[in-house]
Amino acid sequence: MAATKRNPTAFFREEYERLVREGLNWELRILESACEPVCRVDGREVIMMCANNYLNLATHPKVVKAMIEATEKYGAGAGSDRSIAGNMDIHEELDRTLARFKRAPASLTFQTGFMANEGLIPQLADRGDLFVSDELNHGSIIDGIRLSHADRAIYKHKDMADLERVLNEAEKHDPPYRRIWIITDGVFSMDGDLAPLPEIAKLAEEHGAGVYVDDAHGEGVLGEGGRGIVSHFRLTRDQVHIEMGTFSKAFGVIGGHITGSEDLRNFAYNKARTWLLSGAMPPGVAAACKAAIEVLESNPQLVDMVWENRRYFMEEMQALGFDTGNTETPIVPIMCGRSKTARDLANYVWQEGIFVLPIVYPMVPREKARIRVQLCAKHTREHLDKAIEAFKKGGKAVGLI
Ligand SMILES: Cc1ncc(COP(=O)(O)O)c(C=O)c1O
Repeated sequence: MAATKRNPTAFFREEYERLVREGLNWELRILESACEPVCRVDGREVIMMCANNYLNLATHPKVVKAMIEATEKYGAGAGSDRSIAGNMDIHEELDRTLARFKRAPASLTFQTGFMANEGLIPQLADRGDLFVSDELNHGSIIDGIRLSHADRAIYKHKDMADLERVLNEAEKHDPPYRRIWIITDGVFSMDGDLAPLPEIAKLAEEHGAGVYVDDAHGEGVLGEGGRGIVSHFRLTRDQVHIEMGTFSKAFGVIGGHITGSEDLRNFAYNKARTWLLSGAMPPGVAAACKAAIEVLESNPQLVDMVWENRRYFMEEMQALGFDTGNTETPIVPIMCGRSKTARDLANYVWQEGIFVLPIVYPMVPREKARIRVQLCAKHTREHLDKAIEAFKKGGKAVGLI
């Protein structure tokens, strides 16, 4: 029989052209300097207002020095997966430093936060178990859940009545679910709002469920000295069983991590496939992450600085008439409605030297396009005033204020 003629690669271009037609493609900007409050992007000097580098640790001299020194000592790479020959003393020191910072029995670091979620979550539940997930959870949580054989149920964003409904429904399952896990972002990255973690923990306790929080945007920002959302709500490790986070945001480097009991750590490094079957975090990166934690431990005022900048920016923007959504953190959405308005406003302020990106469908619902501003500790009043002035002119030009 003659083989069917196939072109396995034609869809690369077709799909890309469709994205362009529908205005859904990413147009990449190029950062030509370090990620500082003022940096060079596409040949222009601009104020950076869309980085996750909340505490400016990416360029902190102690963090950079630690990376250079460890690279000189250990080389550029670990030479293997941590599970085989690449588990260096610097990785173990990082794990212990993080657990100390989190005031927890144990932590385990992964190569990225995405890999932590995608590796650990599928191991938490199998056939006969249930994941319960907030509808706005991060893609790495969604993918992690998809990789498991467990049932899944979605509750409306932060809606505790809906979560209770889902859990009551789950009680009727026959045979009874063996394990139930409630998974939530701590800070929701598109809106900057917080998960109602105490209420989630209470419902979890009533239903014998585990609680897993992804604190990627809460670390370095929330809680005592930036210890994150569990600290912010003064919850215990019996109430929140797995705290997941990343070194790619406030810590300014890269890497993922989980924190909880010693049992959790032992389980995770024996089961999570992204940890077992992928190369170890480079030693220079591990040393930089450890240094970033230490810098934060000895400079908790960095956290206050980012909050003060947030307060000032929010007050000024609201006084101008901008809608800043439901944010409770230094992620400040400027709600624009239609995608075109968000794009036009981002382009306008770009011309004025402000780097922000429009967040449009499908990242957010069609009529909830926005610009997501992220404040950092080292934005000065001058930087913020320049941005506010640009938004004022741009907001008038696009008819938002
Ligand atoms: C909520 C959340 N979880 C996980 C991640 C992934 O973290 P990482 O950059 O370390 O892969 C991100 C990053 O975008 C995030 O916002």
